[in-house]
Amino acid sequence: MSDRDKQLREAAYQEVETHKSLVESDRFRLGYHLMPPVGLLNDPNGFIQYKGVYHLFYQWNPFKTEHGAKFWGHYTSRDLVNWEHHEIALAPSDWFDKNGCYSGSAIEHNGKMYLFYTGNVKDEHNNRESYQVLVESEDGFTFDKKGVVVELPEGYTAHFRDPKVWKRDDYFYMVVGAQSEDLTGKAALLRSSDLYKWEHLGAIAGAHVGSLEDFGYMWECPDLFELDGEEVLILSPQGLEPEGMLYQNIYQAGYFIGKMDYENARFDHGEFVEMDRGFEFYAPQTTEDDQGRRLLFGWLGLPEEREEDHPTIEYKWIHAMTLPRELRVKDGKLYQLPVEELKKLRHDEVIYHNVVLNEEEQAFAGIDGERLEYELTFNENPSSEVTIQMRNHATITYSPEKKRLTLSRISFVDGKTIEERHCEISELKNLRVFLDSSSIEIFVNDGAEVFTARIYPAENEKNITFKTGQPTSVQLQAWMLY
Ligand code: FRU
Repeated sequence: MSDRDKQLREAAYQEVETHKSLVESDRFRLGYHLMPPVGLLNDPNGFIQYKGVYHLFYQWNPFKTEHGAKFWGHYTSRDLVNWEHHEIALAPSDWFDKNGCYSGSAIEHNGKMYLFYTGNVKDEHNNRESYQVLVESEDGFTFDKKGVVVELPEGYTAHFRDPKVWKRDDYFYMVVGAQSEDLTGKAALLRSSDLYKWEHLGAIAGAHVGSLEDFGYMWECPDLFELDGEEVLILSPQGLEPEGMLYQNIYQAGYFIGKMDYENARFDHGEFVEMDRGFEFYAPQTTEDDQGRRLLFGWLGLPEEREEDHPTIEYKWIHAMTLPRELRVKDGKLYQLPVEELKKLRHDEVIYHNVVLNEEEQAFAGIDGERLEYELTFNENPSSEVTIQMRNHATITYSPEKKRLTLSRISFVDGKTIEERHCEISELKNLRVFLDSSSIEIFVNDGAEVFTARIYPAENEKNITFKTGQPTSVQLQAWMLY
């Protein structure tokens, strides 16, 4: 380890020590989500199950609640529920990553863990360079940077980052988020037989590739995998204009389903679908575990979206990870559900069979508080508006007439403005809602849609109420999560 590396790590640990008690005194610290010990967390990185242990790395700026020269923080777990925080995996200490060890992925090969990340370099005029860097690890806890393995291929600007690597037949493949010289977003594909030497095969998808028109000026964090007989390309495009209910956040995260043609380096795909309909969700990354499950973590945050207004800033930290989700593809659509293991958090179960909701706001004993899960199942598609009000800060509304589900929340910028996000659904069968101290994740119709958001209610705002326009029979279940 170089002196520079040691200094940076020391400084980061010092920052954790200095602000530990302040950070931990924040009542908005989450109970069962991953967070940075201090500073800013963004993308999930290097998500892998290695030698039976889940490793999740994350983009981390320990020094500020702003973006900057990122480190890779490191969490591990055996069950996706109980996590341990480890020493820093990567520090931005080399010439090829001095302005950040940016996002990337992990792969196991011959018993070793390999990480790939983007070395971000800026000069004094803010000109950017990007390098794809390889890291080896014998044990998953100590990391040896091997240096740059991919220089910028021709045809792209320096916005070329976030390598996601996988193995298929005799080759390793890498998909990289990119901007081509005409300033449009692309996903670039590279191939290697030894993880060290990489050949650029071309842009497999992006604006003016195949039938896709303009589709943003940059694609971040691509991820390509097979699931349930389909191929899925996840990406986080920047530069989409709002379109009706769609693309309401500053940046999006979504997927294409299609067919990868490895011979011609082309991904033929259908429409882009947003993965999350809420306010804060970005840069998700997946891995396949030893049970063959396709698992996903997303960043429960968004870049440049009023980040300085989150109230946690005062306590020297910002952002969190979503819950881990399991993905499935059914009838050409991606489904997301919280991983089964999260049921371990369930305590103090309450069950209400065949309750009738009506136009009175009803509360139910055992269904309130800060950290809980509830599941609402409709005996039949509701024929009138459904309204669920949570902690005076978030409201779910379903309109059978408009066939629309809405999440509204009170803005964290002024604590007053009501903001809304919507999605179209043809019927409402069930809702599974996870509330943590300052977050909400809503899984709709067995994971067909998801809404994710931060909310910042007052301490005494703990109530949850349910109402419907016409009497509606439901099943209601809830658990405190700890
Ligand atoms: C996405 C992103 C990535 C980049 C990283 C830097 O949020 O901008 O493209 O690698 O964050 O932290």
